[in-house]
Amino acid sequence: MGTRVTPYTQPEQESKKRQVARMFDNIAHSYDFLNHFFSLGIDVLWRKRAIKILKAHLKESGTQDNLHIMDMATGTADFAMETMRIGGENLRITGVDISPGMLEVGRKKVERKGWSDSIALIEGDSADLPFNDETFDAYTVAFGVRNFEFLEQGLIEMRRTLRQDGLGIVLEFSKPRYFPLKQIFHFYFHWLMPTMGKLVSKDASAYSYLPESVDAFPEGDQFLSIMEECGYRSCKTIRLTGGIASIYTGIK
Ligand SMILES: C[S@@+](CC[C@H](N)C(=O)[O-])C[C@H]1O[C@@H](n2cnc3c(N)ncnc32)[C@H](O)[C@@H]1O
Repeated sequence: MGTRVTPYTQPEQESKKRQVARMFDNIAHSYDFLNHFFSLGIDVLWRKRAIKILKAHLKESGTQDNLHIMDMATGTADFAMETMRIGGENLRITGVDISPGMLEVGRKKVERKGWSDSIALIEGDSADLPFNDETFDAYTVAFGVRNFEFLEQGLIEMRRTLRQDGLGIVLEFSKPRYFPLKQIFHFYFHWLMPTMGKLVSKDASAYSYLPESVDAFPEGDQFLSIMEECGYRSCKTIRLTGGIASIYTGIK
């Protein structure tokens, strides 16, 4: 993926994975608030849109009961909980994340909803998943792949755990291309958000890492090519809200 973008400069020898986990542990307590605040709640609509696409795919392939879905980089479990909308008999969702702090916040939310029997949250790394081949009917990952230390390895590993014809859905930030959204987004993402994020989360690096990691991420057609190289077929992109975010889909 070219340049290494990490949350912290020190210690230099610390892996991106460890730094990312440490950063999310640091901001776990304020993550949900800042996430919805900075996106003006639009992130909720993006996740809903992704789940609609997943639901349509499952309906089309005739698999609506006994589903097992993985939510990679589940964080505080927002996407995993949104996935409950798919419904059907015996729906199971397994959320995976490298940050114990984010998972702890997620588990409390899942418990409060009374969904602990349906949603399991476990610690794990996208590059080396503790699941057999063909375990899941589909996977989702929101705002996660940008943080992977090994992007291709993660995509290949997630595909391994999908059943044949299973769908992978990736929701990730992208960059608007046209005036005036391009300029507004740049100001918002590079100036306003890092300043406010620093005040509220007390982690100065976390909200400067965010725009840097979005800038470095191979979005759009480049990401689709990577998905194809990793073995996915029928890969598609849907740009959301003028290109601030994109949904990528690919089938095993
Ligand atoms: C921006 S949060 C997104 C959380 C959630 N998906 C959401 O939509 O709010 C990114 C999450 O990715 C996790 N993450 C980063 N690299 C990972 C990896 N290699 N394997 C699993 N999780 C990872 C982080 O710990 C963090 O919780």
